[in-house]
Amino acid sequence: MDPISVQNYLKNEQYRQGDHLDARIQLHRRFSVNPTVYFEWMYDILDLQAGMPILEVGCGTGEIWRTNLPRLPDVLPVTMLDLSAGMAAAARATLNHDARFRFAAADAQHLPFSNGQFEQVIANYMLYHVPDIPLAVRELRRVLIPGGRLCAATNGRTHMIELHDLMQRFGLRVSQQYDFTARYGLENAPRILGDCFDHVEVVPFVDRLFVTDAAALMDYIRSMVGIWHFDPEGLTGIEQWVAGEIRDKGGFTIHKSGGVVLAW
Ligand SMILES: C[S@@+](CC[C@H](N)C(=O)[O-])C[C@H]1O[C@@H](n2cnc3c(N)ncnc32)[C@H](O)[C@@H]1O
Repeated sequence: MDPISVQNYLKNEQYRQGDHLDARIQLHRRFSVNPTVYFEWMYDILDLQAGMPILEVGCGTGEIWRTNLPRLPDVLPVTMLDLSAGMAAAARATLNHDARFRFAAADAQHLPFSNGQFEQVIANYMLYHVPDIPLAVRELRRVLIPGGRLCAATNGRTHMIELHDLMQRFGLRVSQQYDFTARYGLENAPRILGDCFDHVEVVPFVDRLFVTDAAALMDYIRSMVGIWHFDPEGLTGIEQWVAGEIRDKGGFTIHKSGGVVLAW
């Protein structure tokens, strides 16, 4: 599979609409141990001020804004962009009553904006999907005003390692194309962003999952169709194993590693 067909997969399958992403967000919402919701934590880090023009690339279903809607300044021009028209539509459906938001379907590698338009650019858990990451980072830098800041979140190498080990133990195979953190992870982000920005800072979000509902975990696993290759027997085995853990130990602990990377 070459990077072009991976983009087709992202646009037309994985992120054709919001359901796969929602299943993953729901698992984190329901079973994260840290009482602070990630999207509230990152919103505080953004420190948005009234009137600041903001761009979010790879906006997905608009979860940052949905979560923090009551806290937004009255005047905040936010442009939300996603490669998938279905995702841009999902974000619009959530937020379009609100005049602060406008929406676009476009590729982070070729942003349809002139230079120096935004005070902050947000790329939340998306850069690892981009075929040419350095090109996208140059684009994100280009559309920032001088001194503007990028907030580009990602996972670390050990993120959800217990789940990935479990999936492999039951014979599920992962596509080599999707070694996300090798492409853009907490460990290599400073080098990747450092090519375009003078300052880079990694701010980890400390958390883990304690999953007490096997069905919710299975929804999460199934949402990764095309990234992981499933067989029905393997899926049944995983569900039974997780149900056993919940019965015997009360839940299944899954380590998380993630956070935001700020660059300016
Ligand atoms: C893991 S989701 C994250 C969504 C959202 N930022 C969030 O945190 O909920 C990744 C998103 O990036 C989008 N995406 C992938 N490649 C992209 C690209 N080259 N340009 C713009 N968006 C892209 C996907 O369509 C998807 O909506």
